[in-house]
Amino acid sequence: MSKELLNQVKKVFTKRFKNKPYLIFSPGRINIIGEHVDYNEGFVLPAAVNKGIIAAIGKSDTGFSTAIALDLDSTIKFDLDKLKPSKGGSWENYVFGVVAELQNRNKVIGDFNIVFKGNIPSGAGMSSSAALENSVVFGLNKLFDLQLSKEEMILISQKAEHNYVGVKCGIMDQYASMFGIKNHALLLDCRTITSKPYAINFKNHQLILINTNVKHNLSDSAYNDRRSVCESIAELLKIDSLRDASEKDLEEIINKVTPENYQKALFVIQEIERTQKAAEALQNNNLETLGALLYTSHNGLQHQYKVSCDELDFLVEQAKKDKGVLGARMMGGGFGGCTINLIERNKVKEFADSTSKAYKNKFNNDCSVYYIELSEGTHIIK
Ligand code: GLA
Repeated sequence: MSKELLNQVKKVFTKRFKNKPYLIFSPGRINIIGEHVDYNEGFVLPAAVNKGIIAAIGKSDTGFSTAIALDLDSTIKFDLDKLKPSKGGSWENYVFGVVAELQNRNKVIGDFNIVFKGNIPSGAGMSSSAALENSVVFGLNKLFDLQLSKEEMILISQKAEHNYVGVKCGIMDQYASMFGIKNHALLLDCRTITSKPYAINFKNHQLILINTNVKHNLSDSAYNDRRSVCESIAELLKIDSLRDASEKDLEEIINKVTPENYQKALFVIQEIERTQKAAEALQNNNLETLGALLYTSHNGLQHQYKVSCDELDFLVEQAKKDKGVLGARMMGGGFGGCTINLIERNKVKEFADSTSKAYKNKFNNDCSVYYIELSEGTHIIK
């Protein structure tokens, strides 16, 4: 968490609203493996990171509420009784969506003011949206003593994204952001919404992210489309979700689905298995196996699930050429954002430099390298 960010948010809030706010840090996340399987009730292996959103929140006595997104220099005033999604996918939908979902659950809140700013690059696939939703629900819970559990809060954040933003996301991002544990990844069972922490200590290896700095437009519609393909195949198989399917089950309906959709479902079944193997590899500190699983996961995301893009594929190809990298893959929803790389510590600089150069040559655009630390989930800053 950045001190500078904290001071900035605090200062703007107190200057503008003249009272003392609650301050909240809500982190973004990485995902080691288990991509596009959370909405299939599978297993994922995310972790909260030290980049996130800082929000200052307090009550308002002006008869309306105000939200200020400092990064965007954007302010909105709103009436809690007249909320509806605003068009154009703007940031306020994350705030409105959380409030609307609290109202749906008959949780009574009053007018409030919120100021926030983050240091998660947007579109990086590091869940800045879940961080924002969680900061809002966490702050409102505290401010109006709503007595919500963390489990309830993440479901509210997820619903905000479904109903106000229009992305039918799974639960991974909100979970990781809320429940993160310092220096740990979480093996999350997306069916029971419970997790097992895995201490991450790679000794002479580390995880780094490389941001393509692109986000292709179709990502939201493609996301919802993938989800509905999975649901329709689960329906054909007469099961609740692909979590319950085996490769053999899928083979039995091969004639009833298109070859493309067959591959998508196959990817999901295989990715759920890979995630469990990855957790086992983590447990045994078997980094070679973990790395190989990352490469296989990317291959599936690229060719079977088809959510990658040229920029991401290029970064993974660069990684494969470097002996210091044990594994790499695209991370998050896809169509841009970051790759996650498992790499030998003393090779990092060399790899970062050569990859940046190659990327610039190829796309005439810069990529960015991020060094991350695994951090605690959403919390009040004392
Ligand atoms: C986005 C969604 C998550 C998850 C990932 C893909 O980040 O918000 O729920 O589905 O994509 O694994």
